[in-house]
Amino acid sequence: MSTRRLRLTPYLLVALPIAVVPATAWQGPLASDSPGFTEAQASAGQVEFARKCAPCHAPDDGGERRAPALSGPSFRDKWGDRRVRQLFVRMRDGMPPVGVRPRGDGYTNILAFLLRKNGHTAGAEPLDPLSYDRLALGVSGQER
Ligand code: HEC
Repeated sequence: MSTRRLRLTPYLLVALPIAVVPATAWQGPLASDSPGFTEAQASAGQVEFARKCAPCHAPDDGGERRAPALSGPSFRDKWGDRRVRQLFVRMRDGMPPVGVRPRGDGYTNILAFLLRKNGHTAGAEPLDPLSYDRLALGVSGQER
């Protein structure tokens, strides 16, 4: 009995770490369904967006829209399958074409706001704007 247990020990030592790895790897696909961002980021981004982007992208006063909408079906069709960092770089390197640029975390927060506006839900993980995660703006996403 005791010799049998002794012989099994090396196998157990090898098997245990192997059993642990798939358990943590499984979190990956689930976690990346939606890029993480916090409610605080989205709220800060909403304020920034209203000041620096909405004048062209979403005039609330019913005025003429001078730029494509950054939410809704056509935006999700175009961007839904791309990476978080692609949209971030697109904004940071080109927007606004004229006027005052967001500073500090401004672009990150605006991106969080756009994720929320296109149907994603905020969580505990802050947004990593240079992530290779997909934006995952599925057709099921509801505009808010
Ligand atoms: C002065 C007007 C103006 C302002 C202000 C402005 N944009 Fe734009 N934006 C445009 C125009 C015009 C386009 C479309 C032409 C182009 O792609 O350059 C555009 C395109 C975009 C696109 C690509 C849209 C698509 O369908 O692919 C994004 C993303 C974007 N803007 C984000 C922003 C963000 C974020 C801000 C605020 C920081 C901002 N823009 C401020 C005029 C503006």
